Amino acid sequence: MNSTGIRITFTFLLLLEITLVLQLAGVNGRSYLTEDDLYDPSALSDLTSDSQDEFVLPLNDDGEKGKAIRETADDLQGLMEIFGQTTTPASKHGKKGLAKDEHGRVQMGVASDQCDDAKTNLTVDWDGSVANYTCFHPETRFPQSPYLQPLQECEVIPDAYRPEHFCMDKQIHYKHNIPSSGDHRPLWPKFGEYLYVPTQRWLHNIEHGAVVMLYHPCAHPMEVKRLRSIVTRCFGKHVITPSTLLPPERPLALVAWGCRLQMSLVDDNIAEDFIRQKALHGPEGNYPKEGQFDQWLIKFANETGNADYSRVTC
Ligand SMILES: *[C@@H]1O[C@H](CO)[C@@H](O)[C@H](O)[C@H]1NC(C)=O
Ligand SMILES: *[C@@H]1O[C@H](CO)[C@@H](O)[C@H](O)[C@H]1NC(C)=O
Ligand SMILES: *[C@@H]1O[C@H](CO)[C@@H](O)[C@H](O)[C@H]1NC(C)=O
Repeated sequence: MNSTGIRITFTFLLLLEITLVLQLAGVNGRSYLTEDDLYDPSALSDLTSDSQDEFVLPLNDDGEKGKAIRETADDLQGLMEIFGQTTTPASKHGKKGLAKDEHGRVQMGVASDQCDDAKTNLTVDWDGSVANYTCFHPETRFPQSPYLQPLQECEVIPDAYRPEHFCMDKQIHYKHNIPSSGDHRPLWPKFGEYLYVPTQRWLHNIEHGAVVMLYHPCAHPMEVKRLRSIVTRCFGKHVITPSTLLPPERPLALVAWGCRLQMSLVDDNIAEDFIRQKALHGPEGNYPKEGQFDQWLIKFANETGNADYSRVTC
């Protein structure tokens, strides 16, 4: 065959493959996607590129949305970056004999000594190091800059995506330091402020519509106090924890399902707008149930005077 012949044959095969992939849409008769489907190219045809865009919206000084940078993540790698990645994608449901929900996942909210009881094996997610909640240079906190505008990033997550519930015998890793969706533990933290909460726990709360406040231990204490007072006043359904995974330029963040807002200096209007717009979203965005995990809890959300988990109160 000459080279034109080869090229024509190759193009034909490619078209045939695309057709086959499109026919497989519908993901084996299920109406939802799991993280495993993200490793299965035939499932990806279900996700049109417009539902997989990543939006990065820097906000200018007046709080208006500036230039939107759109990055399309319609390939497998991009999807995995959005959803994070587990170490063992192929064997996901943990041990046999555990109670499962209607999506075949380990049942959430039920303590199990075979899987997750919110007390055993917690070092899988966090070794308890003081480094994760302490500023070792308290006299020289990260400088705040009014020139570093708040940065809001959102991923459009397909409605059909269902994060997995992994037992404590499995590690869960994320591609992003501040993921806004992803696999997590079956038991979630009670709402409130903590000495520290691992990402693997609070990701479950945002699936239930909570807002999570993260701050670097070396962020300025006045800014931390300012953001905390906004969060506790605006929304009872919150989790507050330090995180050394935040960058020094923007050591303060709010996270809700699909979105994160990172700040150098707290902007009250932008933070409140974020809570008003992003709270109570997620696949189970109105799920009202209190969590089970309360290791390292400092203060229940209801002790701040805001026990309303059902609505934004500012
Ligand atoms: C805790 O802090 C250490 C030291 O800075 C860091 O290497 C580690 O990734 C942090 N762990 C978590 C879970 O954030
Ligand atoms: C703790 O980890 C061990 C080893 O992975 C596992 O066999 C056990 O089921 C786990 N228990 C809980 C409650 O997480
Ligand atoms: C606050 O919430 C905790 C956890 O759900 C609960 O045990 C406690 O009774 C609540 N306190 C009040 C005053 O509602």
